[in-house]
Amino acid sequence: MKALVLAGGTGSRLRPFTDTGAKQLLPIANKPVLFYGLEAIAAAGIREAGIVVGRRGGEVRGAVGDGSAFGLRVHYLHQERPLGLAHAVLIARDFLGDDDFLLYLGDNYLQDGLTGFAERAAAHPGAARLLLTPVADPTAFGVAELDGSGDVVRLEEKPERPRSDLALIGVYAFGREVHEAVRAISPSVRGELEITDAVQWMLDRGLRVRAETTTRPWRDTGSVDDLLEVNRQVLDGIEGRVDGKVDPDSTVLGRVRLAEGAVVRGSRIVGPAVIGAGTVISNSSIGPYTAIAEDCRIEDSAIAHSVLLRGADVEGASRIESSLIGRGAVVAPAPRLPQAHRLVIGDHSKVQLTS
Ligand code: DAU
Repeated sequence: MKALVLAGGTGSRLRPFTDTGAKQLLPIANKPVLFYGLEAIAAAGIREAGIVVGRRGGEVRGAVGDGSAFGLRVHYLHQERPLGLAHAVLIARDFLGDDDFLLYLGDNYLQDGLTGFAERAAAHPGAARLLLTPVADPTAFGVAELDGSGDVVRLEEKPERPRSDLALIGVYAFGREVHEAVRAISPSVRGELEITDAVQWMLDRGLRVRAETTTRPWRDTGSVDDLLEVNRQVLDGIEGRVDGKVDPDSTVLGRVRLAEGAVVRGSRIVGPAVIGAGTVISNSSIGPYTAIAEDCRIEDSAIAHSVLLRGADVEGASRIESSLIGRGAVVAPAPRLPQAHRLVIGDHSKVQLTS
């Protein structure tokens, strides 16, 4: 079995981060979300993966390389424009050949991995097998309707009036039948070739589509709130390990992963938290549920429930919460007078002011 991992798309709900980087590389506990998926694919025994990339493909290649670090042989498939999940399958035809494959959305986080799903797909090969989970608001997802025996009878992409609460969570297993389906369908109202329409096309032709339902933690990291929530879940499971330097005026409480080369001075770090190499924290309070990437500088500040990307610089921020701060971004105190905010922020940014 091969894997096809989708790491293209536009990521419009994560602007401005996706204007300068691939959303699948945004970090969860200081590791790109895509890496969790690739590790799960390798752990499921799959050795060959195609990664569909778009305009941010160079960065994905730079981060993943030939895949050997994951135990995978990775092939890159360039998608000119994000024309839909079924379009990504269409352009991967030569790579996939007639092999069964696992389709995986590269911005999804699935706590339990893929091993059981991949094993059952290999044991019972068929046209399609879908992984589903009950969600509170199915209108934001592909939604499946099942029959009494748990097979899929109908699928709809982001329906206004969902017929069930079972959402597709971005993990699919396909046989070669899917190639005819993705060639046969037309673009949806949002202008994309939908994989849900391709599966519906197979259902309409009498092909069996199996489903599995999970209630284990899963999240599409497509928005800032989702990303912070996945970060919280992953940090909940980390082991503490202090390899960096902590001076005697500092306290480290709970499970904190402080990378070698990180420095903490006169500060209090409350876990769960991860702090990357080269980051210097002074006279500050960090955590809980905070991930600070490499080469950041935090001074005279308090930060909790947040994610900071590489090279962020924060000074004099009395309390930052539930925030995502981009690469090389600077948060600095304003001069006392005049009493005004001075902002230099990128397109599609969001700043919440308390005064
Ligand atoms: O998150 C689960 C949902 O994912 C499912 O419930 C939906 O049925 C499915 O259509 C999909 O919906 P999204 O609107 O969330 O898909 P999104 O545009 O976020 O794309 C998912 C991933 O695939 C993301 O990593 C970007 C990548 N992608 C997307 C498109 C449209 C590509 O690589 N190429 C594309 O053309």
